[in-house]
Amino acid sequence: MTQEPTHDAPAPSAPSDAPASPAPTATGADVRRGPLRLGDKVQLTDPRGRLHTITLATGATFHTHRGYLNHEDLVGLPEGSVVRNTAGIEYLALRPLLADYVLSMPRGAAVVYPKDAGQIVAMADIYPGARVIEAGVGSGALTMSLLRAVGDQGSVHSIERREDFAAIARGNVELFFGGEHPAWELSVGDLSDVLPQVAENGSIDRVVLDMLAPWENLDAVADALAPGGVLICYVATATQLSRLAEDLRADGRYAEPSAWESLVRGWHLEGLAVRPQHRMVGHTGFLLTARRLADGTVAPLRKRRPAKGSYPVAEEWTPEDLGERSVSDKRVRRVRRDVGQGPQLDPRTGQPLVPVPDDEAADVAGTVEGAADTLDVSDAVDND
Ligand SMILES: C[S@@+](CC[C@H](N)C(=O)[O-])C[C@H]1O[C@@H](n2cnc3c(N)ncnc32)[C@H](O)[C@@H]1O
Repeated sequence: MTQEPTHDAPAPSAPSDAPASPAPTATGADVRRGPLRLGDKVQLTDPRGRLHTITLATGATFHTHRGYLNHEDLVGLPEGSVVRNTAGIEYLALRPLLADYVLSMPRGAAVVYPKDAGQIVAMADIYPGARVIEAGVGSGALTMSLLRAVGDQGSVHSIERREDFAAIARGNVELFFGGEHPAWELSVGDLSDVLPQVAENGSIDRVVLDMLAPWENLDAVADALAPGGVLICYVATATQLSRLAEDLRADGRYAEPSAWESLVRGWHLEGLAVRPQHRMVGHTGFLLTARRLADGTVAPLRKRRPAKGSYPVAEEWTPEDLGERSVSDKRVRRVRRDVGQGPQLDPRTGQPLVPVPDDEAADVAGTVEGAADTLDVSDAVDND
């Protein structure tokens, strides 16, 4: 029996005298290598380390308050060349990397920072050939990382409800890749309306949501995702994260979510002064992933039960609602004594103004010895 060729096992090609055609170049690769050309974006680094991004154009000049240089002086040079302006100031010329491009491109909405884009690609397992849905698109920063990860054979369908933001994203993406990307489609509309129209049920490998209220779309996303597919959401605040996690659990079609944040701290490198930089981006957002269960599957019960009080019955929040271990009044009184702040005594009787239980009365006499059992933050807070 003849075996049909499959994607996993391509049929061997018949020997031929024809010269092998060159392997197709991945979209965008051509504009990222070779000598500098007209139309290229170029990042100029001045002697003080400041970055200036220009797009090389015929007859254009790059001006500062100290001299200028002609764009055409750069054309034909290899990346990594140094050029001088009319005042003799030197600039290092390089094409911006994706991370540089994203941080300097025009923005409509806030962008996903490169550190988070990297996490999204890795932790949502965005692979070459994957079928990905993204919403919203904002300025298109994350879109570029997703397109690179799926490659020309994959697909990224981006959905943005604001037409103006979608236009900005299109401009940014096409400028970066040097034209249209064959794997990209962009639709304007609300995710929950557009998704059922553009994706058959169970046909999508990965869904990436960066929007204010991702929980509003969990139903449409669950319909679109294939069993085992990954939903990854980027949210800015802990309250969004909490709402999202609880709504995912309530939906019942997702496995247990996991969440994290990433902090990246740059380092100062100067001779012996090698240390973390004083400033860093302290917060961007939280990431959460959840896998789509097979239809009809009930997620196994979690072995670790939620801490008592994690789900409040009343509207009023208690320390237990926030996962904090309660601290007994007795313990607080002891810690108070330990730090030399024992109960206030009546000057006439020498007795505490507020009555103290009998078993503690002896301690009130007021030694601060035995302070080893002092309450500390790690004791009091249990976030698990
Ligand atoms: C923070 S921006 C996304 C930024 C983008 N990830 C980037 O890296 O440039 C959030 C976007 O989601 C869009 N949005 C919010 N809810 C949406 C929904 N239900 N459907 C489609 N787009 C939505 C907003 O209009 C906004 O442009």
